[in-house]
Amino acid sequence: MTVILGIEGTAWNLSAAVISEEAVISEAESTYKPPHGGIHPREAAQHHASELKEVVSRVLRGADLDSMTDIDAVAFSQGPGMGPCLRIVATAARALSISLKIPLIGVNHCIAHIEIGRWRCGAEDPVVLYVSGANTQVLAYRSGVYRILGETLDIGIGNALDKFARYLDLSHPGGPKIEALASKGTKYVYMPYIVKGMDLSFSGLSTAAKDALTVHKHKTEDVCYSFQETAFAMLTEITERAMAHQSKDEMLLAGGVAANRRLQQMLQTMCQDRGARFYVPETRYLGDNGTMIAYLGMQMLKTGTTTPIEQSKVRPNFRPDEVEVTWRN
Ligand code: ATP
Ligand code: FE2
Repeated sequence: MTVILGIEGTAWNLSAAVISEEAVISEAESTYKPPHGGIHPREAAQHHASELKEVVSRVLRGADLDSMTDIDAVAFSQGPGMGPCLRIVATAARALSISLKIPLIGVNHCIAHIEIGRWRCGAEDPVVLYVSGANTQVLAYRSGVYRILGETLDIGIGNALDKFARYLDLSHPGGPKIEALASKGTKYVYMPYIVKGMDLSFSGLSTAAKDALTVHKHKTEDVCYSFQETAFAMLTEITERAMAHQSKDEMLLAGGVAANRRLQQMLQTMCQDRGARFYVPETRYLGDNGTMIAYLGMQMLKTGTTTPIEQSKVRPNFRPDEVEVTWRN
């Protein structure tokens, strides 16, 4: 039996998991909650540094292994993410790899979101819509690479939602709170719909939403509703175009924002209309989690892809199309 320890900590969630080829054996996490406002990279990194030992101990205790030597490899998220946070996790992973004399595997966080989704849902070859705080991309696999077919030109959809939520004085993360308010909205108010070819822009939305409240005096619920309807329609439009271009009949939704029911519903309707299958994994595997890092680490290890220490430097701007996908044929 091959056993992998995975550690995730690109942003506010520090999370570890131990998995085997068949199952998730143990999971543990500790989430940084900013006292107010958004995430400060250095504060999140300090949180990770002080919690790491406890989280890793807990996940190993939960795994009930005879000894640490039962771990075959340690995987960590090498990027993209906040530099100070990435460095804490990478340092711990390197130390474990050296002291236990096991391979180190640096994984791309975005691809981990995708692969755990494929695993949990049984999707074969989907067009992927990856929506999280910092990232918004449409991807599809071809010839050994996850190609980015469309993406945001400025901020990620999650950050756009979080930014507007902060303006409403809602605590981080704002996405779920906006979703709750939006479900009570009834009136659509104007929001900028910005799709350029296959790319998107969200930065104008938060400003337009503020103006809709303060200048035009619309109800908060109506503004949240309109924000979501506009942003999610933009996402659905480019995802559908990607499916048509690539002739794919599967679609997988991934990343923290994928938990949003309205977004799921719009994509599901689009897929139904095309006669395509729509997949979204359980909510616990949508946001950042150690299991997805361990799972991708397992796939990479099986195909002999490991990371020598000298190549384990963190990569804050690591793009998914820089990864050679060795585990799919
Ligand atoms: P990445 O490095 O992939 O960008 P991340 O740090 O943004 O990861 P995730 O857990 O993937 O972390 O996504 C977090 C984002 O998901 C936050 O912006 C949060 O507001 C958003 N989110 C979570 N639940 C919902 C929801 N129900 N509706 C909308 N947004 C949501
Ligand atoms: Fe993420």
